[in-house]
Formats: sequence, C-alpha cells, structure tokens
Amino acid sequence: MKEICTSVKKKDHDAKIQGRAVYVGDYERTDRGEPILVGKLLRSNIARARVSSVTVPPLPNGYCYVNADDVPGDNNVNIVLDDTPVFCRETVEYIGEPIGMVVGPNEEEVDRILGAIEVAYEPLPPVIELRTAKEFFFEYEYGHGDVVRAFAEADKVYDEEFETGYQDQTYLETQSMMAEPEGDGIYVHGSLQCAYYVHGAVMRAMGMGPDQVRIFQDVTGGGFGGKEAYPSILACQVAVAAHKAQAPVRCVFDRREDLEFTSKRHPSLCRYRAAVKDGRVTALECDVLFNAGAYSTLSAVVLQRGIISAPGVYHIENVHVRGRAAKTNTTPSGAYRGFGAPQTFFAVEMLMSHIAQDRGEDSIDFKERQLVSQGDMTSTEGRYHFPVPLRAMLDEVDAACDLRRKHRAYAQPQSGRYRRGIGMSAVFHGSGFTGSAERDMIRAVAKLRKYRDGTVEVLASNGDIGQGVRTTFPKIVAHELNLPLERVFYQHPDTARVPDSGPTVASRSLMIVGELLRRAAIKLRACWVDGEEQEVEEHYREPDFMIPFYIDRFQGDAYATYAWTVNAVEVEVDTYTGISRVLGAYGSFDVGTPIDYHIVLGQMEGGFLQGLGYSSIEKMDYDNNGKIWNHSFTDYLVPTTLDVPNMVAMLHVEEYPDGPYGAKGAGELPLVGAAPAYVEAVEQALGGSGVHRLNHVPFTPEDTLLELIKEVK
Ligand code: MOS
Repeated sequence: MKEICTSVKKKDHDAKIQGRAVYVGDYERTDRGEPILVGKLLRSNIARARVSSVTVPPLPNGYCYVNADDVPGDNNVNIVLDDTPVFCRETVEYIGEPIGMVVGPNEEEVDRILGAIEVAYEPLPPVIELRTAKEFFFEYEYGHGDVVRAFAEADKVYDEEFETGYQDQTYLETQSMMAEPEGDGIYVHGSLQCAYYVHGAVMRAMGMGPDQVRIFQDVTGGGFGGKEAYPSILACQVAVAAHKAQAPVRCVFDRREDLEFTSKRHPSLCRYRAAVKDGRVTALECDVLFNAGAYSTLSAVVLQRGIISAPGVYHIENVHVRGRAAKTNTTPSGAYRGFGAPQTFFAVEMLMSHIAQDRGEDSIDFKERQLVSQGDMTSTEGRYHFPVPLRAMLDEVDAACDLRRKHRAYAQPQSGRYRRGIGMSAVFHGSGFTGSAERDMIRAVAKLRKYRDGTVEVLASNGDIGQGVRTTFPKIVAHELNLPLERVFYQHPDTARVPDSGPTVASRSLMIVGELLRRAAIKLRACWVDGEEQEVEEHYREPDFMIPFYIDRFQGDAYATYAWTVNAVEVEVDTYTGISRVLGAYGSFDVGTPIDYHIVLGQMEGGFLQGLGYSSIEKMDYDNNGKIWNHSFTDYLVPTTLDVPNMVAMLHVEEYPDGPYGAKGAGELPLVGAAPAYVEAVEQALGGSGVHRLNHVPFTPEDTLLELIKEVK
C-alpha cells in the first residue's frame, strides 16, 4: 500500500479517550462566561390535529415560552423543500411535533411549566399505515429498454414484496444545540454534520444576513446521517428562543425524545417483478415506497439514491423503476448511512436469491453470471467508468470463509436443533452526491492557511463525526508539503472562519474535499515563502468523463464512481429459541486507496456491524396512533461489543484517479450489503426459500419462531 495509507494516531484520540473533549452538553457556561438557560420542547401528543389553544400558566421571572409567533424570519426550516416548521403552524402532523419551547434557568422548573401547559386539540384523521398512504411528497420514474416485451417473452415471471423497518442512528451523543445572541446576530453551536446547512436554516428563520449568523460544530459524538438535517431544525428552535430570552439557550435531548422524535432510516415497501429468460433476468420492474413521515425533510434525495440503486449490481437490459415517498402522520424519516440504498439492495438481492432457488440453481452462481462489468451501462444509462471488482471480491470472500462450498452444503436438508446457513450479497455505493448536485449546488471550496511559523491550517466545513477527517485532511496536506503531521491542523468548522466546502454527507468529504486539499497543498508548495502568512484556495471541478445527469429523466451518470463490496454472513439458527448466532461476517470492500488503513478498517467494521443490527435486532415501530414504541435501549436493541461476531473486513483497492491518491467514498458502503447476506443465511438454515421465503428486515428471533411454527401447522 502507498505511504499515505500508513496509520497514524487520530488527532482527537487523546482528548476523547481522556474525557477532555468538550461536547455541547458539557459547557458549564458559555465561552464568554454567561450562564446557559435550559430549553425544552413542548410537543404534540396527538398524530394530527388543529391546535385550537395553548394555555401557558403564569411564568416565574426569568422563564419564557417561545412559539411560532416569536420566529423573526420565516417559520420554515431550510432543508430541501421547506415544509418543516420551526414551531408548529395551525396543525400538528405527528406525535412529538414541537409546538413551543419553555426556557429558563432551572431544569426542574422548566419541566414543571411544561407539564402545566394545556394544549387544546381538534383531532383530524391521521394516516398512520404506509400501505394506506395516499399523499406523496415525491414521485419519480425512470427506465430503459422494452419492459413490456421482455415480460411478454419471459420463460417465467417473479413477483415479490419486500419490507424494511426503521433504523435509528443511535449516535452516543443525542441531538444537542445551543444558541447565544451576539450583537445583532446569533451564534449557534452544537452537535452537527453540516455547519453550512445549519447556517442557511438559521439565516432564514431569523431573517438575518450571512454575516449575522455564525455556526460552529462542537465535538460531535456520532452522526451516521442523523445529524445531517435534524440539527438545522433544533438550531432554529434554540436560536429563536435565545433571541426572545436575549440569553444563551441550550437544548439537549434525552435518549427517549431522541429515539421517538428525531429522524431515522425510512421504512420501505418494495414490490419487484422480474422477467427471466434463458437463465437470466431480462427485465426488472421496481416499485419503491418509502415512509417519509410527516414532513419531507431529506426524503427526495434519500429516495433518489434508493431508486437509482434499485436494480442492484446486475446487467439487466430492460428496467422500469418507480419511487414514491409517502406522507404519514409519524416522525419524519431522514438520513442514515446508506441513504435509501440499504432498502432497495435488500429487495434486489433477496429477489435474485429467490429466483435462483426456484430455478434449482446456486444463487451465488446465478448472481455472478449477471454482474455488471466496467464499461457497462448503469441503471440510469450512465457508465461504470472504472473497474468493477465484484468477481475478484467474491473470490476473496470465498477464500476467507469457504463460501461457495458452505453455500452448497447448507442448502442440503438439515434437521436437529441447530442449523446453519450462509448468505452472500454484492452491492455498490455511489460516491458523493447524486447527479450534478456537487457541480450545481454545492460548489465546494477549500482553503489552506500557512502561518509565519510554517504551520498550516486546513479551512473546510466538513466536521469530524468519528470518521476521522480531523486527521485524514491534515494527513493529505502534510504528505504533499512534506511536513510532519503535527505542523498541519484542522479545527472544528466555524462558518466565521471556513469556506463552504459542502456538508459532511454522502461519503463525499474525503473523496471530494480531500482532493481539493491535495490540490491546494500542491499549489502552496509551489508558492511557499518562509516566514510569510499565505493562503491558497481550490474549487470543485466536475471530472471531464461524467455523462451529464438529468434528474427530471434520471438519465446520465448518477455518480462519478462507486465503492463496491461483497459480503458473506454465516449463521447458526437455534430452532428452539429462534436465535441466530453469527458465526462469521466477511466482507471485501473497495473504497479505493485507504487514506488511513486503521481508520478505514474501523469504518468498514463499524458499518458492517450496524448493518447486522439492521438485519437482525434493530426493531422499531409505532402503535396505531403513530407513537413509536421503542424509546429506550431496553426496547430498541443495537449491537454491543458482546454482539460483535468473528468479523473479517478485507480491503480491495481500485484506485480512483479523481480522488486523493485514488481514494473513493468510504463511509456508507459497509452498511449497505449486510441485510441481504444475513437474511439469506437465516433462510438457508431454515431450509431455503422453497420452505421459508424471507422478505423483511429486521428478521428477529421472533420472526424465526413464527416461521418454524408454520412448519408445525
Ligand atoms: Mo449521510 S446518510 O449522506 O449524512
């Protein structure tokens, strides 16, 4: 591997493990020494209603109640469509929707006041079930070839429905934000991924200009997508509250409200139809339905990625895809690592496996025959411009766990209490934003500032959320300038000091902004003068090879390049308890050149584990009133250290010429393929899809028992 891949100690390692890192909840006072007021949200306890009155009791000195009337600018949070209110309008649209905020110095008193407020509702009929939803925020459609003809000429047609549930990001630090009035402006800081998204949202809600609003990212205890859009909402709320109170206000969610009321992965319902002729899938029709919840937030872009990924990694001549994001009166869904792709990859991978089993063919062989190759057309008539290493990765995984042999052996009838299965998946993750957004909307800028003493500061807006950019950005710059890593540093993003290099999302930071920094470092090297302060800047340029993407037709290169992975999961199912023990989880991951071997390996293992949680235990659902049941870690189970299986993550490097030293997007890929590999393994242990056809995640021990009971009946 290249020298740049050699692992270093993360720049924030000591502060974090020694407990010195200051998260927004840790501030005793503001930086200026002022006391901080507590803000807590008054929330709707009904899924859909007209709010006829809110009666606030007399408030003690120093306390105030804040609502939509106090929003100085526009009571809409700037996200994609701006339909999310800062505080509710005339109606509430989900249980937990913020109606107002109570602010004051003492937390118990704030709680007492919240409990004493009376809200009168006129209930309206809510839409709770995804299947009954009739209103869609977004509807897309695309395709190519002649689907009708391919179905007419098929040897056999397959039709199946797949369902996936919520998944909560479960960052260790809950959503937390603080606002401080500063002159005629506002300073907002806290736990977030995208300082400039928050900047835009606060400007709009406060009716302020760009220089009046300053956003700073505090040390952030995990994001995983959950802090892509939600912090914009909370930032507007605390900003309005601080403005009214004319004092610093902080809101730190407890775990219960974070689990119940903040965005999580979209539940999905996918109906797939496949035409098979001469042993190949000749046509695919995908109908993708996502549960967006009460407001549209990021659903447009999540759905776009979901439907572009819908036909999977297969070369299929005729494709038609429809996608819809449905409105229901439930907590708005949002971004979570994978961003719409885990849902559709689960569907297409399970379908391919089921078709193969129906044909009496090994599903690995069936899939392998139809894998895309370099130069092939993508689902949106773009091109896979760069190597597609899936076949090699399949061999690597096979070598690691004897996949092919076990997959055949476990397909034989099994009896007895313990039964085994092994499942395989092949997926990609498009690196960076979908379509032309990077070129047309984000237009990233990154800077380097060299000080007189020869140290260099990275100026960019991409925050460290655990993925290591605080270390890898300086590593790139130090490498180009031939400086020791200690001489290059990267602070947390502060919009008063850094240019807009775009949000910390979409597996883009290292690939896109890292490359800007590499180019900036080369520029600085060329003009370096000892003892002077110097600054250089780089702007994003779209690579020349891109086939322009048209979002209205879903045509062109949706992504410049792709990260790839093949996963295998081996399980042993206890047919008495339903519990599936993961005997091994294996993955070969191509994220291009790892800019730090251990950081990338950590990303692969962590993401893979989150994917296994999604597959097996992370069950979250709401009741008939739209209220989420699972609001604690007793009710919502995520993998702990005790659940980490024997896991083998291997890196397969296909260098991407437009990423720094060949790096591609890394963050999201490892989560995406786990679910179909896991569920196929459980299905195989239970006798295969001819006996038990599994088509939903999470697939819990209870689900396994329900399947086994069917055998008895
Ligand atoms: Mo990410 S799931 O694109 O914040």
